[in-house]
Amino acid sequence: MQEYENRVIVITGGGSGIGQAIALEACRLGMRIVVNDQDKDYLNETEKLLKETGADFKIFEADMSLAENAKALLDFALEAYGQVDILVNSAGVSVSGPLWEIPEQDIKWITETNFLGHLYTARVFIQQMIKQETPAAIVNVASTAGLMTSGNAIMYHATKFGDVGASEALYLSLKHRNINHISVHCVAPAFIKTNIHESERYRPERYQDLSDPYYSSEEFKSGYRRAIKQVVAGMPIDYVGKCVFNAINENRFYVFTHPESIVVAANRIKNMAAGKNPQ
Ligand SMILES: NC(=O)c1ccc[n+]([C@@H]2O[C@H](COP(=O)([O-])OP(=O)(O)OC[C@H]3O[C@@H](n4cnc5c(N)ncnc54)[C@H](O)[C@@H]3O)[C@@H](O)[C@H]2O)c1
Repeated sequence: MQEYENRVIVITGGGSGIGQAIALEACRLGMRIVVNDQDKDYLNETEKLLKETGADFKIFEADMSLAENAKALLDFALEAYGQVDILVNSAGVSVSGPLWEIPEQDIKWITETNFLGHLYTARVFIQQMIKQETPAAIVNVASTAGLMTSGNAIMYHATKFGDVGASEALYLSLKHRNINHISVHCVAPAFIKTNIHESERYRPERYQDLSDPYYSSEEFKSGYRRAIKQVVAGMPIDYVGKCVFNAINENRFYVFTHPESIVVAANRIKNMAAGKNPQ
């Protein structure tokens, strides 16, 4: 895809961070934009920025971890603009801690947001994009945490590996069926200065029972401190929007924000092929 003027981009989690950066880049390219988020304050902030640039945009406030909201988002975009050309799944949360300590509700929350939510939207948007028969793109914001592992944040790794695997399989399943007008892209950022360390703020009402002792444990608090440290030291956000559109222009599946991530991911595969255990 090369022409963006007046085409329609829909971005989940577009109220903050990477999603917001992509929205601003889309605006520079003259696209019409639907910004989703579950956080009203973030949406207000993005709305203000987009208004300043004179963008043509609409706001859709909804929790995208719920399957029914995928179709509602598509219907909203079609009602507003009559077509959808790019879907960006950027909605995401961070949950750290060992599997045997984290409450079950956190496993559900992060899986429904980072993994299932991306699949729910991709599913219904692809149905529409197939009908449209015009160039279109699905962009899933995964993570380098989906290409390599660490001893922390098992559920974050699990959901991001899922997102990378599902995106690759999606790319191949479209190709194998000769559906060549829809491209798929998987963004694998390393640390970027966003609000991801504020994930507790995104916790949906259904998972807000914090009576489990885990939420007052040192393990929980240290995970939060670690996230702040990593994100604050991360790369500035400015360049990310361009990175994504460059990949769409070049029909490139993987989008790395940090080139060194490729080396670490390659080492993991090398170790695997050499029969070594995870390092
Ligand atoms: N910042 C990093 O270092 C980094 C690194 C790798 C991957 N990522 C991924 O990038 C994506 C964007 O995160 P970010 O870093 O921009 O963080 P962010 O917190 O700034 O933005 C995430 C946005 O998603 C929204 N959101 C969360 N749950 C939602 C839901 N259920 N429905 C709708 N919106 C929801 C939040 O309100 C927030 O606006 C995430 O998937 C994250 O895992 C971030």
